[in-house]
Amino acid sequence: MSVRGGSVLIQKPKGTVDILPGQVDVWQFVEETAKAILDRYRYFEIRTPMFESYDLFARGVGETTDVVSKEMYDFYDKGDRHIALKPEGTAAVVRAFIEHKLYAPEEAKPYKVFYLSPMFRYERPQGGRQRQFNQLGVEVFGNANANTDVEVISLAWDILTSLGIHNKKLVINSLGTPDTRLAYRQALIDYLEPHFDQLSKDSQTRLHKNPLRVLDSKAPQDQELVKGAPSILAYLSEASKARFDMVQAMLDDLGIPYEIDANMVRGLDYYQDTIFEIMPLGDDLNAQATICGGGSYDGLVSQLSDGKQEVPGCGFAIGLERLILTMADQDVQVPEMHPLDIYVVNIGEETDRYAMKVLHQLRQAGYTADRDFLMRKAKRQFKEADKQGADLVITIGGQEIADQVVQIKNMASGKEETVAYADLAADPRPIIEAIKGDNK
Ligand code: HAM
Repeated sequence: MSVRGGSVLIQKPKGTVDILPGQVDVWQFVEETAKAILDRYRYFEIRTPMFESYDLFARGVGETTDVVSKEMYDFYDKGDRHIALKPEGTAAVVRAFIEHKLYAPEEAKPYKVFYLSPMFRYERPQGGRQRQFNQLGVEVFGNANANTDVEVISLAWDILTSLGIHNKKLVINSLGTPDTRLAYRQALIDYLEPHFDQLSKDSQTRLHKNPLRVLDSKAPQDQELVKGAPSILAYLSEASKARFDMVQAMLDDLGIPYEIDANMVRGLDYYQDTIFEIMPLGDDLNAQATICGGGSYDGLVSQLSDGKQEVPGCGFAIGLERLILTMADQDVQVPEMHPLDIYVVNIGEETDRYAMKVLHQLRQAGYTADRDFLMRKAKRQFKEADKQGADLVITIGGQEIADQVVQIKNMASGKEETVAYADLAADPRPIIEAIKGDNK
């Protein structure tokens, strides 16, 4: 906090960031690239509110998860409703799916949506971890099958690859059905209980509440113990085993490499059967941090509709901050997002009106165009045009007004032409295109 003249200068809340105009280009590139791929896969955008009732996440994500028990931004509104800023997108989309009867016979099957949205979690901020962060997520409803699991995984893989993230690994696992989890839960407790004293404090509390979470504890003493734990894969039903085998066969067919990690559990309670995570490879700071996590949640629609609708679901979310950090780590070059076609240099007060007219005509014709508004010296204006990377510079001075012409310079070739103002005003396109093309 800094103090100026006795008053406190207000700064952004901890764990949030401002993304400034220059920095936003990479975000726009990511969003545009991802949207084009999502379109190819026939996923359509859904926008749900930024806040929901607290109960949605308590019931949907799970009361004992860190996300709900420690990290939610929740409050009572003026009407005494218990509200939470959404910590994740899946429960919100499932709520909308049920509320709008998107399971109705006339709706698409499976029903495929995506969202780009800020999410809120009260976590300890660090690189790639914020309190307001952004997710690109997808959800698919209506098919509990390996083919949908693999479509979802391949979509995530495709988006990350198209954004230049080549150094990455996909880790998969299966959590089976709730019955599997129940049987496995007991086996895990039986295995861990004799080692209770060696477990970290967090894992000791989790052991009876949510023992599967002990498996992805980051504490070294837990990790050592977990190495010898029974594998959930040994507890899968025939159907779950067949589905997981098919996921692997189809990933092989698509040439998508993967690793199986039987200790991967994910941090949200709604998953069953196939789950997956994608993390960057490399020795930089962010490597190993998960950029994308997801899986199937075949019981969630049923749970949130009080058993009225039994519609399976599957999806993922990519953390965009982590994705963008990884792009920087892997030296991905982002194309110029806002190229400037023309900069209008105007010299002398009397050119102000004329420059305004020319600028307006260029913009009406569809060009990105700007001018000097500050009546700066010619040299300073050319510098500005250069800084903004203008393809062409149009120069207007007293002489040009007298002759009713403008000078148009191709910045790449240095060639300059004099053009009659009447011609430019009639139709700038052929003139501008000819000069733009003349850049040898
Ligand atoms: P999640 O694993 O909780 O899954 O989050 C997905 C991704 O969001 C993470 O892998 C990470 O990249 C990013 N993320 C999470 N928390 C933060 C944070 N505090 N700061 C920055 N990035 C963060 C879900 O949210 C599920 N809803 C995914 C899903 C969709 N599963 C099925 N459908």
